[in-house]
Amino acid sequence: MKRILFAVLALGLTLTAQAKDIFVNTPKTTLMLTANDGQTPRIHYYGSRITPAQGHEIIDAMSLNYDAYPAFGRESYDETALSVTHADGNMTTELAITGTRTEGDLTIISMKDKKYDFYVDLYYRANDKSDVIETWTVLRNGEKKAVRLEQYASGVMTFRQEGAWLTHFHGTWAAEGQMTEEPLTQGLKTIVSHDGVRAGMNDRAEVMISLDGKPQENSGRVVGAALCWTGNYKLRLETRGKYRHTLVAGIDDLHTTYTLKPGESFQTPELAMTYSTEGKGGVSRAFHRWGREGKLHNGKGLREILLNSWEGVYMNVNQEVCEQMMDGIRELGGELFVVDDGWFGRKYRRTNDSQGLGDWQTDLEKLPGGVPALLKAAEDRGLKFGIWIEPEMTNSKSELYEKHPDWVVAHPTRELAKGRGGTQLVLDMSNPKVQDFVVGIVDDLVKENPHLHYIKWDCNMSMNNFGSSYLSGDRQSHLIVDFHRGLRSALERIRKAHPDLVIQLCASGGGRVNWGFMPYFDEFWCSDNTDAQQRLFIQWGTSHFFPTMAMAQHVSASPNHQTGRVIPLKFRFDVAMTGRLGMEMKPSDLNDRECEYAKKAVAFYKEIRPIVQLGDQYRLLSPYEGNGFCSEMFVSEDKSEAVFFCYKFENYADLHTPRWHMAGLDPDATYRLTEFEPSERARYFDGKTFSGRFLMETGLDAYLSRQFSSRVIRLKRE
Ligand code: DGJ
Repeated sequence: MKRILFAVLALGLTLTAQAKDIFVNTPKTTLMLTANDGQTPRIHYYGSRITPAQGHEIIDAMSLNYDAYPAFGRESYDETALSVTHADGNMTTELAITGTRTEGDLTIISMKDKKYDFYVDLYYRANDKSDVIETWTVLRNGEKKAVRLEQYASGVMTFRQEGAWLTHFHGTWAAEGQMTEEPLTQGLKTIVSHDGVRAGMNDRAEVMISLDGKPQENSGRVVGAALCWTGNYKLRLETRGKYRHTLVAGIDDLHTTYTLKPGESFQTPELAMTYSTEGKGGVSRAFHRWGREGKLHNGKGLREILLNSWEGVYMNVNQEVCEQMMDGIRELGGELFVVDDGWFGRKYRRTNDSQGLGDWQTDLEKLPGGVPALLKAAEDRGLKFGIWIEPEMTNSKSELYEKHPDWVVAHPTRELAKGRGGTQLVLDMSNPKVQDFVVGIVDDLVKENPHLHYIKWDCNMSMNNFGSSYLSGDRQSHLIVDFHRGLRSALERIRKAHPDLVIQLCASGGGRVNWGFMPYFDEFWCSDNTDAQQRLFIQWGTSHFFPTMAMAQHVSASPNHQTGRVIPLKFRFDVAMTGRLGMEMKPSDLNDRECEYAKKAVAFYKEIRPIVQLGDQYRLLSPYEGNGFCSEMFVSEDKSEAVFFCYKFENYADLHTPRWHMAGLDPDATYRLTEFEPSERARYFDGKTFSGRFLMETGLDAYLSRQFSSRVIRLKRE
């Protein structure tokens, strides 16, 4: 068979009517498919970058040959990506390739049903600045009547490897991003979100598959996959005969049948994937880079050190208390003050969580000068200013709900299931009027306060009710998809109008952590759990797919408000400093000694901020290993600077401290070490020099004696 090899670097593929090998290349990886006219696209290889000539070896080895987008209808014994009920009721689909083309960095494989005018375009985007590829489909109804999409996945990937392991993330309120690692065994593993609103609240839509047995941080072949979708999703991992693993990822197919009228099309969300030979850490670094190179809003800008009012005063905000907190954070060296929940509501004042959402006018009893006076007070102190909103929500006790009861997600015939505070309801984002309202909240705030710098966008409820007064009876099953399309459209409008506004994504903590949101947000709140010991686990899990520059990590009071645990201030800072540092307490609650310490910590963070926020992260010793220790480090892109963190968080007297092995350094360079305020008495490593090779291969014996001892060591190339 004549085989035309084509498509080397993402750009510049050509079109051919013959048998085609397609190479979707990133700097270090290749996805190889064949796309022969009249057949289905086949996945042959996903791994280290290969040349087209090596493609022959892959075909000759017959290593892998699976449908890249299996449709239900014929020989569908395995999980399918697509299931369609055609206009005449036929539930089967048989796709055949009609052509391939490239547009810039995109490779597009076009298919059509063999008998019906139903079209599928399968997209692959190859990034040339990170090793992440993205895949999605566009489905088009060319039939004379409506068709129903029952299942419409974004993409598929197949691996053939015995002994593969799965790493996935899950949790609940105050315990987000928990990591589980397990061998992939025969059967179907499903990772799903049915929350309706907060896609990352329980299971998360990102997985790693380790092809060399138990996952390692910095060695072994690992594939990472993340579905970029803000709503309900489903990742299916089917293992057959121990060795064949197929991942099918897309919008959840439960209660989401989507009707396409003649001529209408539907674009699925992206499935982003990477492959690394440097273990899970390699996958993480590729996703982090992908974020910095464009997928994360303002991926190259440094994030400010802020004080958020929530754990300091909860809803008891007023001008005086906010000014005290501003004074506090200014004295410590912070840069931004954010007023959290409690600042709004007139008829229904936001004095507790049972009322006021939707009424975004300042509570003049608490804040007589309104938001402008708060902003001015911040600016007078040289601080930037930010504010909390929860735009997609209302309470049944609100002027908004009184005016627009039909704006909430619910079926009008049913009694409402209410959420937080016994009254909270979700606004129906599928309704364009609601979208306008949500966009208007941000527009109005900015109009009134042109210097507004930051918004915390919260979301504290699941879709407790189902139904839309906006969608017609025969389109109720569009609700979950259209809610999120409406949300996305509102976010796009907001970003277009306010590109420089810093916006934090929050959903009862980390309930919305998903790449589908990140083009619109600068950062996210990792968890309402600010206990530094538990944050080690939450942040470790979350950093597997998300860059630490986007992870909001706040130092809070001790005893901690969620767990009651008492943790020294140094340990709290050392844990928070591995992401976007902030504080969430009344600074006036710190004693003089703590205040002096906090000033030093903030000043030190400013020095290491570019390394932590823009450098490469190397997770080293996992807290999940169960030995009570944890370490990680950050290395600047040119490897001239690094910062190393290690912690002891269990209380075993005389427990041997592990030998700390570093990673990511230049082996041939010499690094000089300085310690930041060690909790152990001796500044043991201060001023000493070591080669990168020694630090990585032999490592340091940095002793940590007590529970909540930690060390932060800065490295500079000589
Ligand atoms: C949930 C968030 O996660 C908290 O940080 C805080 O903003 C509250 N909502 C406010 O109601």
